[in-house]
Amino acid sequence: MKFTKIMLISGSMLLAASHVVSTEETRNEETRNNEPIQPIPKNADLNSAKIELGKQLFFDPRLSKSGFISCNSCHNLATGGADNLPSSIGHKWQLGPINSPTVLNAKFNLAQFWDGRAKDLKDQAGGPIANPGEMASTHEAAVTVLQSIPEYTDSFNKVYGVKKVGIDQVTDAIAAFEETLTTPNSRFDKWLQGDDRAISEQEKAGYTLFKAKGCIACHNGVGVGGGSYQKFGVVKPYKDTKTLGRYNVTKEEKDKYFFKVPLLRNIELTAPYFHDASTWDLSDAVDIMAEYQFGITLSDDENQKIVAFLKTLTGEQPSIVYPVLPPSTVNTPKPNRE
Ligand code: HEC
Ligand code: HEC
Repeated sequence: MKFTKIMLISGSMLLAASHVVSTEETRNEETRNNEPIQPIPKNADLNSAKIELGKQLFFDPRLSKSGFISCNSCHNLATGGADNLPSSIGHKWQLGPINSPTVLNAKFNLAQFWDGRAKDLKDQAGGPIANPGEMASTHEAAVTVLQSIPEYTDSFNKVYGVKKVGIDQVTDAIAAFEETLTTPNSRFDKWLQGDDRAISEQEKAGYTLFKAKGCIACHNGVGVGGGSYQKFGVVKPYKDTKTLGRYNVTKEEKDKYFFKVPLLRNIELTAPYFHDASTWDLSDAVDIMAEYQFGITLSDDENQKIVAFLKTLTGEQPSIVYPVLPPSTVNTPKPNRE
């Protein structure tokens, strides 16, 4: 009775008809609302002066000592927000100690870095600029570069109302840009939202296994990970015993070999896998998890299904218009490659 009234108010058979279709879909969506993985929400804000400034900074190699390395060097937005290297290459070709995680969807992490030592994106963004093995600059030097470029000082003035650029605003703007780097509308998310045909039977079976085997206990939520610190090597010690993970932050014995659970969103784009890049093969990575986290061996069929499911987590990549950076001036400090 109530339903008829609503249809009358809407006053159109067309609307009423479309409503019938969407109740069918809504039913699936409502059931799937209880799934332990949630779809990535659409970004509300994609175009503000702050985000545009943050994008310039993300791509600006002048924030590094050499004038050569930008955030995008190691978090390449053309390759899933990572560098697809075992470990990153920093200032003077220094090889970093650990695999670079993707910046895509990083906002869904409970904290940043493998060991969670930065509380959020803003806190994180100051790290690489001053890390001698990465961009090898200092916050002062980076700010001096920006301050020497009138277009930048104008932008900072417009966005933050400041005459002098500070590192606080630099990291704030970069974080605002990173907030936009999400990948909604993966096939899996479409299925979560009620589209039965978005994933195949094989992929659905993979998801069922992902839950049944227990992967979901750690890889869940919007990011399919990123929500907790967990031990790598729950049932048997992992071979890399040098990288201590969360222990570095807490200095508590119980946190040795605990790492932030990585996001599995877009996982097919971000090989090699694990903090030590021990495999380039997603199928191997799944077997390693089964072995070290559960002490089980998956059959080939189970492995293939889980891998098929993981590939449905690839979403729409952010569409980036490559920024044109404001030119240096005579006052801009010169790159230093030493
Ligand atoms: C030389 C390569 C390199 C450069 C340049 C670099 N990063 Fe990273 N980034 C890494 C590595 C390696 C890690 C992981 C380090 C760790 O966890 O100890 C990382 C971690 C991160 C994370 C955490 C992601 C997660 O899942 O925990 C974010 C966010 C990030 N970087 C953003 C940036 C931004 C913003 C810049 C520019 C200001 C930048 N990076 C510059 C290599 C780099
Ligand atoms: C007890 C928690 C836990 C369980 C259960 C678990 N994982 Fe993980 N997973 C992690 C942690 C922690 C890492 C990061 C390990 C590292 O590199 O230090 C990880 C890493 C991964 C990676 C590599 C991600 C990357 O970006 O390098 C994949 C793929 C993965 N897990 C899939 C699975 C699958 C599939 C299952 C079920 C068979 C599973 N995981 C079960 C905690 C867990």
